[in-house]
Amino acid sequence: MKVSEAITKRYSTRGYTEEELSKEEIRLLLEAGLKAPTASNKQEIHFSVLKGDDPLLKEMDQERNRLKKVESAPHNFYYEAPVVIFLSGDKSFRWTAVDAGIAVENMALMAEEMGLGNLIIGCVYDVLRGEREDYYAQKLAFPEGYEYQVAIALGHKAAEKAPHTFDFEKNVSFLF
Ligand SMILES: Cc1cc2nc3c(=O)[nH]c(=O)nc-3n(C[C@H](O)[C@H](O)[C@H](O)COP(=O)(O)O)c2cc1C
Repeated sequence: MKVSEAITKRYSTRGYTEEELSKEEIRLLLEAGLKAPTASNKQEIHFSVLKGDDPLLKEMDQERNRLKKVESAPHNFYYEAPVVIFLSGDKSFRWTAVDAGIAVENMALMAEEMGLGNLIIGCVYDVLRGEREDYYAQKLAFPEGYEYQVAIALGHKAAEKAPHTFDFEKNVSFLF
């Protein structure tokens, strides 16, 4: 698949089959993240890989509902994906958030090429960066001085939707 095709076809997948991902597939996805450029080639992004049945995911989901003051949400935040990967980065590095964003998009595009669904996840920010930040950092094996940046759910698609539309004129200014 051409990069242009992966960019065009990618969409957020909010529903997964129970089919597991193989170790090789997970490795390819992680390598896509690791191949992403980082500022000064610092390579400060860490990847914590969880299986979809990890109780920690349920715990985070419940904590998210508690913070949102809702009993339960129609779906958990990872839509029953078989694999969820949390990206963390060095708190003291200016470009950590940008680097994590580039890495996670590399992974999303690789997933697209592999025929897999993926969902970039930010909604657990308040859980992972809130009052229990240290607890979750330890549970997710973040390196010392690292904090949650973003996550990505990965698996076989059980839901489809069209990629988002956009307004070229509104978002672009030509200065020539
Ligand atoms: C940084 C970031 C965080 C996101 N967090 C979530 C999330 O927590 N839950 C979710 O369902 N979608 C999340 N999304 C997906 C966006 O909602 C989605 O990319 C957007 O609606 C455009 O749709 P598309 O990806 O299908 O083109 C996130 C996307 C980004 C880039």
